[in-house]
Amino acid sequence: MSKKHAGIVQKQFTKTAEAFSTFATRDTPEMLAERVAFAKPQPDEIALDVACGPGALVFAMAPHVHFARGIDLTHAMLRQALAFQAQLRITNACFDQGECERLPYPDAAFDLIMCQFALHHMPRPEAAIEEMKRVSKAEGRLLIADTLGPESDEKWELHNRIEVMRDPSHAASLRLTTFLKLFEEHGLSVLRQTLKPRPRSFHRWMLRAGVEASNRRYQEARRLIEEAIPGDRAGFSAQYDGDDLTIVHYEGMFLLGQQLAPESHSG
Ligand SMILES: C[S@@+](CC[C@H](N)C(=O)[O-])C[C@H]1O[C@@H](n2cnc3c(N)ncnc32)[C@H](O)[C@@H]1O
Repeated sequence: MSKKHAGIVQKQFTKTAEAFSTFATRDTPEMLAERVAFAKPQPDEIALDVACGPGALVFAMAPHVHFARGIDLTHAMLRQALAFQAQLRITNACFDQGECERLPYPDAAFDLIMCQFALHHMPRPEAAIEEMKRVSKAEGRLLIADTLGPESDEKWELHNRIEVMRDPSHAASLRLTTFLKLFEEHGLSVLRQTLKPRPRSFHRWMLRAGVEASNRRYQEARRLIEEAIPGDRAGFSAQYDGDDLTIVHYEGMFLLGQQLAPESHSG
């Protein structure tokens, strides 16, 4: 990741660390339990959450594994994580500051590597995936969850333009087809996969990114989404809901394993 983009990510998530923790409605206990069950953690495993933010997935995973670590670029997010850890009294977890294209861990160090709702902040998601694979044991698993961009080029462009307007650290929401291609190119096979629509309030979505209704970016994003309702041209499946809008993000969750090199047969 370039220094410039790393600076944009840190600025955004320093500004919004508190709002993010308050408004991150997707991390309800049920949703976290669903992700934990999906990964099938084992009591002797060591897990790593890459771009862990305030640590919700680390804390959900910790009771099911031997040890859980989180790493994130943004100090303010890690401070939130440490405060939550103290409240929850979780002792088999810790947090590191670092960049996911250069993870400060040796090869094959983890059984389970997770990364949720963060690849869309990375201009080179392929570099992050390669690095996660490097620190995964050969028989380890990767759990990737992220919002998916629309498949149509026109919808994808407008969708991501609105996302960047809301949050300048957004790089791109990858399409399902792009994710599957990336996994294949990196020798990762999909063990399990789910795709789910996640409806949410536009207003709360903006607040979580630190953008108030009085802000020009709020108004512009809302205008673009409203104008694109006929034909769902921004791919948000937006609908009016009183003074607010309901928008939908499609979320993909993938459990990946490393493809074993085919055995070579001679003679
Ligand atoms: C939308 S938040 C998601 C946080 C957490 N995974 C969750 O679901 O609650 C994105 C996080 O990714 C982190 N991040 C973005 N780019 C990163 C990078 N290259 N290396 C490490 N962390 C990064 C940000 O600091 C931020 O905490």
